[in-house]
Amino acid sequence: MSSEPLPLAKPVIGEEEERLVLEVLRSGHLSLGPMGRRFEEEFADWLGVDDAISTNSGTTALHLGVRAQGWGPGDEVVVTPFTFVASANCLLYEGVKPVFADIDPVTLNLDPAAAEAAVGENTAGILPVDIFGYSAAWPEFERIAAARGLGLLEDSAQAIGAIDEEGRKAGTRGHLAIFAFYANKQMTTGEGGMIIPRNPAEAERIRSERNQGRAVDMNWLDHDRIGFNYRLSDIAAAVGVAQVAKLDWILADRAAAAGLYAEHLGGIEGVELPSADQGQARRSWFVYPVRLPEEADRDEVIGKLAEVGVPAKAYLPVIHTLPQFAEFGYREGMFPVAEGIAARSMALPFYGDLSDDDAARVASALKTALKS
Ligand SMILES: Cc1ncc(COP(=O)(O)O)c(C=O)c1O
Repeated sequence: MSSEPLPLAKPVIGEEEERLVLEVLRSGHLSLGPMGRRFEEEFADWLGVDDAISTNSGTTALHLGVRAQGWGPGDEVVVTPFTFVASANCLLYEGVKPVFADIDPVTLNLDPAAAEAAVGENTAGILPVDIFGYSAAWPEFERIAAARGLGLLEDSAQAIGAIDEEGRKAGTRGHLAIFAFYANKQMTTGEGGMIIPRNPAEAERIRSERNQGRAVDMNWLDHDRIGFNYRLSDIAAAVGVAQVAKLDWILADRAAAAGLYAEHLGGIEGVELPSADQGQARRSWFVYPVRLPEEADRDEVIGKLAEVGVPAKAYLPVIHTLPQFAEFGYREGMFPVAEGIAARSMALPFYGDLSDDDAARVASALKTALKS
């Protein structure tokens, strides 16, 4: 068995990405050119939606999504504390108060009952995250949103290709949704994101805000609203076009890698693996997070794994305890399910061509680290 360090994550980049990037470089259209539009169209086709709008990150997609909802000062939006920080920072950008609610201990997604209990008279919406590639409880959130007159924004940054409990692909249920393409994601453009708009008028507004408040037919120095520069370059879009073309097999390879881990890690006492798919749901494998036994010292385990070339990361920490949320009175102890799970969670090396030997090596290293 090799002792070369394993990577924590690895993008799948090949000749098609090189060819399309070169095509853009030679075309002279490095931004707002045909490759950008092609990426949006091919992504929308793959997903099965009418339109998709690229951005230069998942975070900027979330920001434009919050604005498209019309959420602003005085509004509250319910969000999970067990997510990447951008899911709640995007609310702060627009002066919206994040209202955290606890998670489901099995799926690790926002618990619909806790979310509903957090709805108050100033609540304008709910922002569920499909965490670790597992779809949130969308039928329940749709029921709550309809009953309470709330907007839904889906943070599907980690869940391209996930199927929900009703058999529908993440991002296709008709509410606003976003995806992210940072280099550790299932598909990547290096940096990048995508928004799925609800209708053509909303799409027009988002495209304009992404491009400094310019309407499509406007001159470069004309702006009819406030905007941002959240454009994705055509070089990045070229990588995206190649990635979409092979997304089905990228996702299949990752699912197979997760299967290898399930076999090799399954027998380690006290270690909990990601939850199995329920009903029609199918996880899109983003990372491979395990939960260590309560008595294990996670930092020590991570240190021991590093010594034998197996990188691992404490993942995910809860976010409500971060300083930018303190003004709302959030502190440790308020969301015991999320906090308990976050304290024991750890991501292992994970990529589509993870071999049986790699999985066996990680399992053996983890077993040894937990024993000592
Ligand atoms: C759940 C979630 N939301 C949002 C983002 C932000 O995406 P980006 O890093 O592309 O800005 C990420 C990135 O990891 C994420 O995991």
